Amino acid sequence: MAQENIKLDIDYVRSQFPAFKDPISKDWSFFENAGGSYVPKNVIDRLTEFMTSTKVQPYAEYPMSKIAGDNMDKATELFAKMINAKNNEILIGGSTSVNLYVLSNALKDILSPGDEVIVTNQDHEANISPWRRLGDYGAKIIEWKFNLNDHELKISELEKLINSKTKILAVTHCSNIVGSVNNLKQICDIAHQYNVIVIGDGVSYAPHGFPNVKDLDVDFYTFSLYKTYGPHLALLYGKEEILKNLPNQNHEFLQGQYPYTINPGGPNHEELASLIGIYEYFDNLYFHHFNNTKISILEKISKINNLISEHEQEIANPILNYLDSRKDLNLIGKNKITDKNRAPTISFYSNKKSSREISNNLHKYKIATRNDNFYAWRCLNHLGIDTDDGVVRLSMTHYNNKQDTENVLSALEKI
Ligand SMILES: Cc1ncc(COP(=O)(O)O)c(C=O)c1O
Repeated sequence: MAQENIKLDIDYVRSQFPAFKDPISKDWSFFENAGGSYVPKNVIDRLTEFMTSTKVQPYAEYPMSKIAGDNMDKATELFAKMINAKNNEILIGGSTSVNLYVLSNALKDILSPGDEVIVTNQDHEANISPWRRLGDYGAKIIEWKFNLNDHELKISELEKLINSKTKILAVTHCSNIVGSVNNLKQICDIAHQYNVIVIGDGVSYAPHGFPNVKDLDVDFYTFSLYKTYGPHLALLYGKEEILKNLPNQNHEFLQGQYPYTINPGGPNHEELASLIGIYEYFDNLYFHHFNNTKISILEKISKINNLISEHEQEIANPILNYLDSRKDLNLIGKNKITDKNRAPTISFYSNKKSSREISNNLHKYKIATRNDNFYAWRCLNHLGIDTDDGVVRLSMTHYNNKQDTENVLSALEKI
């Protein structure tokens, strides 16, 4: 948790996001962050700069092209540093779903008939379907089901399922419905005893603190940059020793040029360059709160992560507590965040009203939320929830404030 008794300066944070001053959005409490986040002005500025001055084909020697290419490379380098990866271990693709389909297509070649692939029923479908399709190539698909009493994925269950035939394990770092943070490091430790490749879905985790992929020791890790304050892109990390040997999914002549081998079509240029703005935002956040200049990017991120977690815990726990106390409402997952064990992604449903009705009523009080299965339909099926009506999800991030918490509690009470 936060050291040095420093707290997140929420007014400063909000001043960095133009959406809080925009006539369309300014009066709303925004609770749909797990769907997609607002962007800080640094990202908008970087995007505008690219589109205004350097919107040409990058990597030629004339200035506009050179600057465009340099900025794209710089964005990749910064993101690699932020998550403790090497530059050639990350690729920026169109979405997590696309990245994982391409990856599964590449990984299918390592499988022999009878090999096993473990998927969960807690994940978003993006980290299930691409792996289940390996069944078409002879793999046996094993489902690691979450516990119906506390909605957690139990390590003891994994230990029963994993064995020397297991080749791939796809698991979420944090479910977009349950919100619990799964112990990915421990999961990787277990999996690696059997030489299993672990694919971690960090889409619901990364907006609450960028991961240290080397510390997790995960083989592949993915998150969607449009949920971490950027444009509609997604990052895929892969350990170099695995990535470099994967069959090429790109043009034939690019054989061997990883990570492009797993990124057919390449990144969206202007959006990639605008990712520099995410780094700049976090850097500004760091220097607003701390003054040690002799610190690595990774250490800065770790300090900001702690500030963010503490703030999120403060604003989310009253909502978890309230929902848990209501007999007519069913809260999914843990009823309290303690020590980063849960994201402030809060899903619930009612015994009396449809999720749609609740969500629409919340809109009347300017609470931006929605009802849905959020593509975690296996998770909702397992919980016995109608996947069309789904759950109401109140997902917060570090720019939500105490006023948002008060607004949603008062709106829930009224409706
Ligand atoms: C946990 C989780 N995983 C994967 C995805 C898919 O991400 P994308 O929209 O980038 O394909 C989402 C999207 O909501 C998600 O919440």
